[in-house]
Amino acid sequence: MPPSGRAGLPARAPTRVADSRDVPATVIVGAQWGDEGKGKIVDLLAEHCDLVCRYNGGPNAGHKIVADGETYKVQHIPSGVLRGKECVIGAGCVIDPAVLVDELDYLAGRGVHIDRLHLSTNAHVIMPWHVAIDQGVERRLGKLKIGTTKRGIGPTYADKAFRLGIRVQDLLDPKILRQKLEVALAEKNVWLERVYGAAPLELEELAARYENYAQRLRPYITDTSLLVDRALRDGKAVLLEGAHATLLDLDHGTYPFVTSSTTIAGGAAPGIGIGPTRIDEVVGVAKAYVTRVGEGPFPTEIEGPDQERLRELGGEFGTVTGRERRCGWLDLVALRYAARLNGFTSLALTKLDVLSAFAEIPVCVRYLLPDGSETADFPAHQSDFHHCRPVYETLPGWREPLGDELPPAAKAYVELVERELEVEVSLVGTGAERERVVALG
Ligand code: IMP
Repeated sequence: MPPSGRAGLPARAPTRVADSRDVPATVIVGAQWGDEGKGKIVDLLAEHCDLVCRYNGGPNAGHKIVADGETYKVQHIPSGVLRGKECVIGAGCVIDPAVLVDELDYLAGRGVHIDRLHLSTNAHVIMPWHVAIDQGVERRLGKLKIGTTKRGIGPTYADKAFRLGIRVQDLLDPKILRQKLEVALAEKNVWLERVYGAAPLELEELAARYENYAQRLRPYITDTSLLVDRALRDGKAVLLEGAHATLLDLDHGTYPFVTSSTTIAGGAAPGIGIGPTRIDEVVGVAKAYVTRVGEGPFPTEIEGPDQERLRELGGEFGTVTGRERRCGWLDLVALRYAARLNGFTSLALTKLDVLSAFAEIPVCVRYLLPDGSETADFPAHQSDFHHCRPVYETLPGWREPLGDELPPAAKAYVELVERELEVEVSLVGTGAERERVVALG
């Protein structure tokens, strides 16, 4: 007789979670305001993985990877595609089909094979009205604008929460798609014309265009939750790649100057459709200094010529929008907060080589708050954060190019980060190319 389970029902075969632990699922997450060089770290770790998945965001993300002297830029497709890995775009993502189709063509044109890409049926679709509304809202906000990438991200996630969104699976059924477009346009065109002074959208043209996208994307659309679950059960190594970064998280970032998705590591589970117990490692990626694009407070933003110098040395211009990134010194208060929110099991510190030009390097270890007190913890109240001043510890620079063996001053810089965060720094980026990474520890 088979063993009986709860309420006398026959017991089901136990799930094989233990097996999946043999080869861990690893989350990679940006620890600052984005552009930490995650693409490079994902690309590196992807070599030892079977599956690379994105769990949040859309074409507001941009990864630049330099491989074999060639530079590739991707927005939707996980960077693992350059390693020829199976790639997943999860349910927590928002997809602009026009951008995705262009990206598929771009990669194919450069000889990158993309036949093993899987797109979640449940991901939401960025429609032209989302892009127009994103632009319209920013225009109307004027000085109070967020500084979004204007890719329609906020309005798409808003419609998702409002339960008015169009999902990838809707593209597959022309009847459902047309019905949803009709319902949406009845309202969106009023907003576009009356509130934002934008041109209305036309149903027939839109339906035809999106049916075309559906034909292109159909081969990739699948149940990605099931696919990742099976991969983990088969003992495959899965990399879960977060887009944007911790301080842009909708709940815990520097709201309202954030993106509209869950960026932190905990978002990987719902964003893919697996349980949180399946995740074993969380690798944070932090730049050895800090950059930010868009508006919002930034305590360690550099005033004076070093701002420009750091931007030029680090090539700090946006991958998606080409905007100049604001540059600042490393902020360990914010990074400690990121360690708390994500539960890093290790940290990758990128672009350390960019700091080689500086004789002295300030690092923010505490904030001075408006009431005169100092804190090592990220302020919970936005006014404290907006008005805090960084308290710096200044470290000597190393003034030499970085190779495989870090000079003592560069080592001391890394050790300060480890001490302050109580997290091991396992990788240090020493140059743009794929191989310019030093493994520590
Ligand atoms: P959105 O994601 O386009 O709505 O933009 C919201 C905020 O997040 C803006 O400040 C953007 O500049 C910022 N942002 C979004 N994605 C990224 C990214 O991948 N890197 C850096 N900043 C980003």
